Amino acid sequence: MPWLERGIGMEAAVVKEGDWVLIYFSEKKSYVVRVEQGRQFHTTKGSIDLGSLVGVEYGSRLETNVGEEFYVTRPLIVDRLSVLKRFTQVIYPKDLAYLLLGSGVGPGSRVVEAGTGTGYLTSILAFYVRPSGRVFTYEAREDFYKMAVENFERIGLLPYITVRKRNIKEGIKERNVDAVFLDMPDPWEVFGEAYSVLNHGGTINVFTPTTGQMSRSIEGLKRAGFKRVEAAEIMYRRYKASPRELRPENVGIWHTGYIIRGQKL
Ligand SMILES: C[S@@+](CC[C@H](N)C(=O)[O-])C[C@H]1O[C@@H](n2cnc3c(N)ncnc32)[C@H](O)[C@@H]1O
Repeated sequence: MPWLERGIGMEAAVVKEGDWVLIYFSEKKSYVVRVEQGRQFHTTKGSIDLGSLVGVEYGSRLETNVGEEFYVTRPLIVDRLSVLKRFTQVIYPKDLAYLLLGSGVGPGSRVVEAGTGTGYLTSILAFYVRPSGRVFTYEAREDFYKMAVENFERIGLLPYITVRKRNIKEGIKERNVDAVFLDMPDPWEVFGEAYSVLNHGGTINVFTPTTGQMSRSIEGLKRAGFKRVEAAEIMYRRYKASPRELRPENVGIWHTGYIIRGQKL
């Protein structure tokens, strides 16, 4: 998929059938859509014949059926998350970014994660471990497992993900793992197992919504033998990107969750 090659040197100049593209009208209005012959995409600014985008150069300025201008370009990975069907709480970009950077994960990493849920975190991890790494993600619920697989197909990252329909408390199947990520109600139940499958230098990264879970996680990580244990909350404040009216946005997401991290030395 051309959008996946962004940043690793491949430039597809024109839109192809099946591409996910970003339709940009304004700072407030943009959409991620898949280009398909015979499909109309309806917006409040008129409709777009998606088939007519095939062969159009990326970066082109076009018009809807009622003459409203839009650009067609490549979505960023963070835009692409919007194509996932949401059926659980998800981890937001501000937390995904911090989780990723501090975990040490990069191209080639072997990563274990639970629970899969909607798959926001899984998708970000898969995007960054490409092309030679892999994410092994555990989901206890059968219905969620099936929906997550469909989501990974939709976003185009399934080739880098092994989805296991399994309660991670029953054991981690992988060995020689570079990082473990846990977004589940009782992560401390698997800290011992996570420690045993991690490589030296590997990290454990926990995301949890309440202070009680954060406290138990810190205690549990230390007891399991992890060092460099740290806990954080990421405060994110968006500003109106308007030079003459530069000030914080009126509304934003206030609470998301806490990030607790440890390392196996
Ligand atoms: C909050 S959601 C995860 C959301 C995900 N991090 C994202 O960004 O989209 C938590 C998921 O963990 C699953 N889960 C809870 N306990 C689990 C366990 N012991 N093993 C595997 N999955 C589990 C739940 O079924 C649920 O789908």
